[in-house]
Amino acid sequence: MILGIETSCDETAAAVITPDGQVLSSIIASQGEFHARYGGVVPEIASRRHLEQVGPVIREALFASGVGFDGIARIGVTQGPGLVGALLVGLSAAKAIAWARGLPLVPVNHLQGHVASLYLGDEPLEPPFACLLATGGHTQVLAVREPGSFERLGTTLDDAAGEAFDKGARLLGLPYPGGAEIDALAQHGDPLAFSFPVANVPGFDFSFSGLKTSLLYTVRDLGEAAVAERRADLAASYQRAIVLALTRRLHQVAEAEGLSRLAVVGGVAANSELRAALPEAVVAPLSFCTDNAAMIASAARYAEPLSPAEALVVDAYASAR
Ligand code: KG4
Ligand code: ZN
Repeated sequence: MILGIETSCDETAAAVITPDGQVLSSIIASQGEFHARYGGVVPEIASRRHLEQVGPVIREALFASGVGFDGIARIGVTQGPGLVGALLVGLSAAKAIAWARGLPLVPVNHLQGHVASLYLGDEPLEPPFACLLATGGHTQVLAVREPGSFERLGTTLDDAAGEAFDKGARLLGLPYPGGAEIDALAQHGDPLAFSFPVANVPGFDFSFSGLKTSLLYTVRDLGEAAVAERRADLAASYQRAIVLALTRRLHQVAEAEGLSRLAVVGGVAANSELRAALPEAVVAPLSFCTDNAAMIASAARYAEPLSPAEALVVDAYASAR
């Protein structure tokens, strides 16, 4: 069995999976409430909460799996990208367990982890496929031709799609994290009520900062009372622009790379309009779309593990590789 550990942002998570990708346990301790009042994740608070949570969360994952330490043959842990202080907590815990139990360790790229959420469960997706990866920190289009790697064809030049949702929600007076809030509100709004721009950047890249500015000006021009009255229309129109940008790129990459199957991973994959706009795309179950450790354990199946001694010198990294 494989133990996965994830602490790259504001979720402390641990999971146990079988070598063929069945999830035996997946425990996620969210810190959302600690960051909500600041309107975003505060790195120092995240690190401290991870420190408190990581031990109990790992114990709970082992207990819930019914496997225990003795059944674990490999550890997968997120190495980056993410908040370095947060990553170091999970990485240090993983190193300590690897060393104490003599277990091999796989340092996992968090983005590869999101892709590997597609390889879990009874009907794992098999490459090749074109993949949209959209989270709070990253927005990329990938060509996936084998389970252990991906080729990045496009990325965001500024904000991530999830970040655009979160910042838009803030402008509309909705709580953090805002993606699910906009999603819910948009169900009651008219997506054609306002016309927000879809950035036209070259290649397969994305840009969401102009969209955010456009919402800012619209909200300012409308004034508080009108915004309150038309909040659902604003949310629906704003969401429409993000979804259009995402689906357009995914289709373009699939066509350019000759990939007939589509997949969406990352927290934004929870978005109901995005799902409806891509009925043919494979999306992992919701609990494996947002940050979790089962996807990290899944990715750890496709890389050569390090010995406990080699693992001790592994360092965390902040930016995408
Ligand atoms: O993958 P994830 O859990 O964490 C990162 O690695 O960033 O993604 C979190 C992001 C947040 O920006 C959140 O607002 C967004 O996913 N999100 C959504 C929805 N649910 C979560 N965005 C749009 N619609 C949703 N239903
Ligand atoms: Zn993530």
